[in-house]
Amino acid sequence: MNILLLGSGGREHTLAWKLNQSPKLSRLFVAPGNAGTAKIATNLPLNINDFQAVKDAVISHNINMIVVGPEDPLVKGIHDFFLSDNDLKNIPVIGPEKKAATLEGSKEFAKQFMMRHKIPTASYQSFTAEMLQEGFNFLGTLKPPYVLKADGLAGGKGVVILDDLDEARAELSRMLLDSKFGEASTTVVIEEFLSGIELSCFVLTDGVNFKILPTAKDYKRIGEGDTGLNTGGMGAISPVPFAEGAFMEKVKERIILPTIKGLQKDKIPYKGFIFIGLIKVGEDPYVIEYNVRLGDPETEVILPRIKNDLVEVFDAVAHGELNKIDLEVDRRSAVTVMTVSGGYPGAYTKGKEISGLEKIEDSLVFHAGSTISNGKTVTNGGRVLALTSFGNDFRKALDKSYQNVQKIDFEGMYYRKDLGFDL
Ligand code: AMP
Ligand code: GLY
Repeated sequence: MNILLLGSGGREHTLAWKLNQSPKLSRLFVAPGNAGTAKIATNLPLNINDFQAVKDAVISHNINMIVVGPEDPLVKGIHDFFLSDNDLKNIPVIGPEKKAATLEGSKEFAKQFMMRHKIPTASYQSFTAEMLQEGFNFLGTLKPPYVLKADGLAGGKGVVILDDLDEARAELSRMLLDSKFGEASTTVVIEEFLSGIELSCFVLTDGVNFKILPTAKDYKRIGEGDTGLNTGGMGAISPVPFAEGAFMEKVKERIILPTIKGLQKDKIPYKGFIFIGLIKVGEDPYVIEYNVRLGDPETEVILPRIKNDLVEVFDAVAHGELNKIDLEVDRRSAVTVMTVSGGYPGAYTKGKEISGLEKIEDSLVFHAGSTISNGKTVTNGGRVLALTSFGNDFRKALDKSYQNVQKIDFEGMYYRKDLGFDL
């Protein structure tokens, strides 16, 4: 089977690495890919939101399956594009159709879905510019901190949490009247603040059958002790030590089952990953958000723990036969430590030569933002390399990643040294 994987981050390098292990794979293409995927697959320099360009690549390389990494092409309807094209309609796409992708593309849609299917989440109301005064009044009825969310995709930056009522009102006004997040903040969801510890739960479904994948916890803030600005993710740990037994039973009964059944009741087909951002409040799980893809860097710890042939698993998703798969998960812990460019998540410079990769022992290196320039591997993004290691517990795994990270160097390199501090 020839597979085309869309995306260019650490998630996609990990997917490529895992797909590449399958005897069922003939050729793997990654668009646009990075320096890591270039070593194990053929990178295609194309814009993955240009569906005609994707189609041309599919035809010219005899592609038999598409795997979509990031949310953008899904929310823009790449799966629907394939289904409505005579040349493409029989080529399976791993990733949901546009309607289902709205679970990530619109916070209001996701909230309505959860309300309709009685899935536990923070209570909320949503507002548009005409309703600014009502929004101000609603904020006045809430206790701080105030949680304001741009409805649409805002590159992970659309959630603002403020302690002060006047600031929250000013922020609401900036989002609604001054289009702070462009079109994404035409509607703003204001919700109750939930206090607890966060984790990510992943489900793979063919629309009827589903498999619960290993849990993971990512570290989003740039600074140690979870301080400073939000990033794409500075590292991850799987499994999450506090998400076991009774708690995961609650996640399954209260959240995963109603989500899958809700999609069916609403007649929303879904073939792909569901990433459920959870918060544990006391002993109870609540949904913070849905994403319609795998997380990054959660993928860098989840996929290495899955022992199955991923091509076989995706083929089962495509054919509605996920019930025939027995998921086998490595019992060990996996962690990943992300190295980032100096200055990230603010301004940073690209093109710094990366050295020491050949010295890594007993860890996997997943490229997140790198490219080849004049034969050298250089930085090409904020997040640069993820180092994944296994251990009997996450601390032993972390020791390995931290030993190896010291062998790597590029100008301005930074990483968090406190992963797992809260566990
Ligand atoms: P999201 O983009 O929806 O994942 O939100 C970004 C971050 O904001 C989450 O990871 C949480 O840390 C925080 N957050 C979102 N919604 C809430 C909430 N209702 N209560 C507390 N924290 C929240
Ligand atoms: N690590 C969070 C995300 O992928 O959205």
